[in-house]
Formats: sequence, C-alpha cells, structure tokens
Amino acid sequence: MKQQHIELNLGSTTTTKQTSMLGLYAMNGGEGHLSYAQNSSYQRGVLDVAKPLLEEEIAAKLDHFNPNFRIADFGCSTGHNSFPAIEIITEAIEKKFETLRPEFQVFFNDQVMNDFNTLFHSLPQRKRNLYAAGVAGPFHGRLFPKASLDFAYSSCALNWLSQVPEAVADHTSPAWNKGRVHYTGAKHQVFEAYSNHYANDINSFLQARAEELVTGGLMALLVPADPAPRCSHGSATSFTTPTEIDLLGSCLVDMANKGIVSEERVDSFNFPLYFTIPEELKGIIERNMSFKIERMEIVNNIWGKGRLCSAKARAAYLRAVFEGMLINQFGREVMDQLFDRYTNKLAASPHFLDPHNEKSIIIFLLLKRN
Ligand SMILES: C[S@@+](CC[C@H](N)C(=O)[O-])C[C@H]1O[C@@H](n2cnc3c(N)ncnc32)[C@H](O)[C@@H]1O
Repeated sequence: MKQQHIELNLGSTTTTKQTSMLGLYAMNGGEGHLSYAQNSSYQRGVLDVAKPLLEEEIAAKLDHFNPNFRIADFGCSTGHNSFPAIEIITEAIEKKFETLRPEFQVFFNDQVMNDFNTLFHSLPQRKRNLYAAGVAGPFHGRLFPKASLDFAYSSCALNWLSQVPEAVADHTSPAWNKGRVHYTGAKHQVFEAYSNHYANDINSFLQARAEELVTGGLMALLVPADPAPRCSHGSATSFTTPTEIDLLGSCLVDMANKGIVSEERVDSFNFPLYFTIPEELKGIIERNMSFKIERMEIVNNIWGKGRLCSAKARAAYLRAVFEGMLINQFGREVMDQLFDRYTNKLAASPHFLDPHNEKSIIIFLLLKRN
C-alpha cells in the first residue's frame, strides 16, 4: 500500500446519545492475547466461506467502472480480516476489468474509539495501486459525499445496533429488561424493542449508503443472523450467538447475586446487538427500495466455528468483542472473574464446544444501487 492518511468524519446523524455510546463499541485493540486481532478467527471464517461468492458476484454483476475505484469497508475493526477482504475485492475487480488497470482508494470505517493505530500499523505493504484512508464515525449515518463510492462492503458488523433500545433500560417501560442483558429468553416486549430498533438502524444504513454509492454501485454484506425467530435453536443441545450472550449474562446475574457487581448495574446493562432472520432482513431491504437484491444466500461459517472448539478460545472470542463495553459498565477489576465464570459454564455444557451444535448463520447479500 502506498499512502496512508486519516480522515475524521463523525457522521451527519450522530446524536448526543449515540455519541455517549461510541466509546463502548470498540473491539479490544492492539495485537495482544486478548485483542480482537488475535481472537477473530470466527469472523475470518466468515470471509473464507464468502470468498467464492464475492468473486463470482463481482465477475457477474459489476458493470460499473471507475479508473479511481473507491471502496469502503464499514466496521473494519483493526483490519486483520478487513485487509484480506479488500484484497479479494480488488483482485476480483482487476480481473473483471483486466486491461483498464484501475487505482483503488480504500476507506476503512469504524467507530471513533476503534484502534486505527493498529489498523494502519499492520497494513500489508503491497505493490498494487491502492491508497488507504481511515474514516471514523457511526455507519448508521452519512460518512461520505454523495455518489462518491463505487463499492461498499461490511462483514460481521450489521448486527450492532446504533444504541441499546431506550425502552429496555427504562424501568417504567413494559419492555424493561430486568435481570437480563439481552433479548434471549426475555419477554416479548424486549424482543420487539430490539427488532424495531434494528429495522430502523438498517434502514438508516441503507439510506446513507444509497446516497454515498454511485448508481449501479455494488454493496456486499455479510450479516450475522439467526436461523429462526427469537433463537428457537438455543435448545439444550444447540446454540447461537444470542444464546452465548445469554450465558455470559447469566454469569453477570450470578455475580450480582453474590454482591460482586451491583444488581442495578446488571439491570441497566443490555448488549446493543440484534441477530436478524433472512426474511426479516429481506423485508427491510425491499421496503427501503434503494437497492436491488442481486443475491441473497445463507452461508454456514463452519470453518470459523471449527477454530473455536475449546472453552478458553470461545470465551476469548467474546471477550475481545465485548470487554470494552463491559469494563465501562462493571469495571476492569471484575473482567477476569467474569470470563473465568463464563469459561467454566461453557466447559460444563459440552454442547457449546462442538462446532456442529452452533446454529448461527451468516447472510450473504449482494445489493446493487438502483
Ligand atoms: C465483530 S467486528 C467485525 C470486524 C471486521 N469486519 C471483521 O470481519 O473481522 C464489528 C465491528 O463493527 C464496528 N461497528 C459496530 N457498530 C458500528 C457503527 N455504528 N459504525 C461503525 N462501526 C461499527 C465495531 O466497532 C467493530 O469493529
């Protein structure tokens, strides 16, 4: 890569509330043993299974060319999975327009608190005509000028909400999620608050990207999802990411019962994540009307799952993702204990350690800007 510069764009629709949440959203930075870089083989597995689909779709559906081809990755984290994705995309574009030799400008987007230093520090050195830039800010709002992007990409990021739905943390609301930290196993009002919030967030994401992408521009999305509504696969012998989050929540409840963390802190904490189902996501995209669905496919991330077959590895995978926001709510001093408890619970329920019991799915989407 030839040139690096950082642009700071906080997004046009950032609200005070969202801003106050930004610090909670970054993955563990750096390259240490608890970092996202060292504990994201599951997310890397998502890219591995999607690679042939990305290559096929770019070859078949990309009919827009720009000699200065601009690509953005929304929710890139520290880049270790983003760089290989960009490599797949740029190589497929070069193959498609063999004689035209485009130059690429690649924008790496993530929240302001993301560790962009590690991202730029670990950018691979390559000969290709590729220029990298960082764009910090929430992707639910506008981050780029009108019609300035040729290709958009996002992997394992659109399950993040812009914030926790207000009603689930409001003790006067029927959706107050007392004693739980997510919607799994919670009352239906909690689930509905999450699912409504998700629909609004995805709609905002699509609206922003529709303005930023050129007509005919493509957007490839890899969206973590559930195979059935309300995680009905979280049975005694199978599990999904939401049921893992629920198990982590049960450790917090245990710690509150023992007086290690305050009950009030557990009651006011909820994970800002939602795992859609394919029909729901399809409906949101169709109602938005800015994009044509060129391909929608369910991919099973068996490679990534296979890499997480010890309780320790599974716990480190969630810790790298959630530790920042958990420290913010409960303090750094209880993190080892929380994740030790979680590791022990995983180890005591061996079905969590067999990758075949994991029923989470990834939705591959190739959208074309109308
Ligand atoms: C699980 S990581 C995925 C990183 C990378 N795409 C991969 O596949 O490994 C999700 C990333 O999305 C980012 N993210 C979540 N919500 C975001 C938002 N509203 N705006 C920008 N980035 C966001 C997080 O900070 C995090 O780095």
